[in-house]
Amino acid sequence: TTPVRIGLLGCGNVGAAFVQLVERRHDEIANRHQIDLQITRVAVRNLSRERAVDLDEAVLTHDADAVVHDPDIDLVVEVIGGIEPARHLTLSALKAGKPVISANKELLANLGAEIYEAAGDAGVDILFEAAVAGGIPLIRPLRESLAGEDIRRVVGIVNGTTNYVLSRMAEEHVSFGEALAEAQELGYAERDPTADVEGFDASAKAAIIASIAFGVQVVAGDVYREGIAELTPGDLSFAARLGYVVKLLAIAERFDTPDGAEVAVRVHPAMVPEHHPLAAVRESFNAVFVEGAAVGDLMFYGRGAGGDPTASAVLGDVIDAALNLTNGRASRLSRLSEATIRPIDDLR
Ligand code: HSE
Repeated sequence: TTPVRIGLLGCGNVGAAFVQLVERRHDEIANRHQIDLQITRVAVRNLSRERAVDLDEAVLTHDADAVVHDPDIDLVVEVIGGIEPARHLTLSALKAGKPVISANKELLANLGAEIYEAAGDAGVDILFEAAVAGGIPLIRPLRESLAGEDIRRVVGIVNGTTNYVLSRMAEEHVSFGEALAEAQELGYAERDPTADVEGFDASAKAAIIASIAFGVQVVAGDVYREGIAELTPGDLSFAARLGYVVKLLAIAERFDTPDGAEVAVRVHPAMVPEHHPLAAVRESFNAVFVEGAAVGDLMFYGRGAGGDPTASAVLGDVIDAALNLTNGRASRLSRLSEATIRPIDDLR
């Protein structure tokens, strides 16, 4: 077996779940793929904080730059989130020829083009299945299986926290505040849950989905956004009386015009007919519909938030990048061209 030495940046909910998953799956992975995954260094902000996983003191450090530049590190996993220091750590790792596995939707939704270009220039992997819809395989299918497809529209529930809150409010008449506290307790919510509630998290994911599905540059700021904070229990019961379930939807559409491609990307609460499959997506589950010209309709469904499902996506990417590394190859992202963003008013 070939040793693959991993530098883990961040050891919060997802990072700790990843460490435990590697421990559980190590021998089977070694057996099946002939790679010996070793978590060699773990960079954390606070060395003395209690964490869900026991780590050797020799492994822990607060110097993330040293981890990235350590010649004994082959591959970097970034689960810190946010723009800085994640951006410069990711760019440094890629420039040093190290593949990066990223769960960082904020970074990729804002500066994806810069990151993808750096990976392309260095000829190494940037893989980010965990950044969108947690454990659900979506990015790799869009990048690879559907690489030749003419994708017209993607519609999904991509934020577990708000879906949990809406489900609890509608079904159990739990208050907004209580339901949100539960989602935080269960490890679904962002550190600042405003990102979930106001739709910023879903907008970042929608931008990444649109970029990969349509092969165009879309950033979080291009996404029309409304959150769920204004919704009342009354709104949800009125919708139910009319036969609808209220969901926070992310919708990305592509239009061909004589002047080139236009895309429209938006996140807002929507009334979904109760018999529609998206209406049945409850609690923290996510679901994403992909509509392609040749393939027809596809639906991806599963756990979109939480430590274990997200760690599962990270581990899949780690194995892929490790195998690519041992074979001296990297997965290429398609070129992202510029597209015109169609404003929401033109869709009404
Ligand atoms: N806060 C996010 C959610 C976590 O609730 O979906 C997964 O990205």
